[in-house]
Amino acid sequence: MRKPVVVITGAGGEIGHGLIEQLAADGTRLIVTLDMAPLEVPLAKHVAREFTGSILDRSLLERIHSEFEVDMVFHLAALLSTRSEFSPVMAHEVNVEGTLNLLEFAQHEAESHGRPVTFLYPSSIAAYGMPSLDAKRTAGRVKEHEWTHPTTMYGCNKLYCEQLGEYYARHYKQLSAESIAGRVDFRAVRFPGLISAITVPSGGTSDYAPEMIHAAAKGEPYACFVRPDAQIPFMAMPDGVGALLKLAAAPRASLTQTTYNLGAFAPTADDVRREVLQAFPGAQMSFIVDTKRQGIIDSWPADVDDGAARKDWGFAPEFDFERAFRDYLIPTIRRRYDRNR
Ligand code: SER
Repeated sequence: MRKPVVVITGAGGEIGHGLIEQLAADGTRLIVTLDMAPLEVPLAKHVAREFTGSILDRSLLERIHSEFEVDMVFHLAALLSTRSEFSPVMAHEVNVEGTLNLLEFAQHEAESHGRPVTFLYPSSIAAYGMPSLDAKRTAGRVKEHEWTHPTTMYGCNKLYCEQLGEYYARHYKQLSAESIAGRVDFRAVRFPGLISAITVPSGGTSDYAPEMIHAAAKGEPYACFVRPDAQIPFMAMPDGVGALLKLAAAPRASLTQTTYNLGAFAPTADDVRREVLQAFPGAQMSFIVDTKRQGIIDSWPADVDDGAARKDWGFAPEFDFERAFRDYLIPTIRRRYDRNR
């Protein structure tokens, strides 16, 4: 029997790294990837077929459609929040039109093989927009439907694409004679800032936390661009990848919503600095606040309520703040940079 195929866009990015390794270890699906750049060799060896190109290239998506029978998509490709503020039109193209292309791709796949395509979409804490610091302080752990007035292009893109996914899942071509909706089984998570020990992010606004840790491990000085009291939720990358896979495997009937908050710990930038200093006592870390990027962080909630994800599909992050540093970040990062010395 032919193995089912999973397509991963943005496969060479931070989430793609961990996801490809997990899917490969699992071994139940052939992995097909799409990324603008060729994958690093260790990743590429897990992949049945690697396409290098853009999610905006519909003919490339057509080619994948004609060659593979896809029953799952992880659509990870996106421009992050800081990057998107410098090129809002390009952000809209990649983040929104690109997602529309992938939803159409999934719809066509489902129509041609007759089974639903599970579509995993990483949305973001950027979908929120707290109007003031006071509101942020008093809001507590924010629920999915609260404060959804993002101030960034990226946040607007993510929030809209959550709705677009829901449209495909529930109302697609609702006026046509035969029922077509429901072929794309759309499932989204709103990730907090993700911290990986293997890769460093680029173009995000939550990047200060991973940048601080990686700089300290490399013995480089780091100036954090947000205030010491800046606070948003974060998560260790293995829990992020684990959550995507767990949501992908959840029975459809147990899901009461299409988009779920995820959280794990919600440190201030100063909490991160103190934890990093414990591991790397000589680290040189200062704060030189970029008021504009700080403004973006201030617009994101201090923490999120992820009760629905825990209840519906058993989301349970393995790493709290201390464990993330002690058992994952510090040992893995140490090994990584020691090897390079
Ligand atoms: N990490 C993302 C960013 O900073 C937020 O989801 O843009």
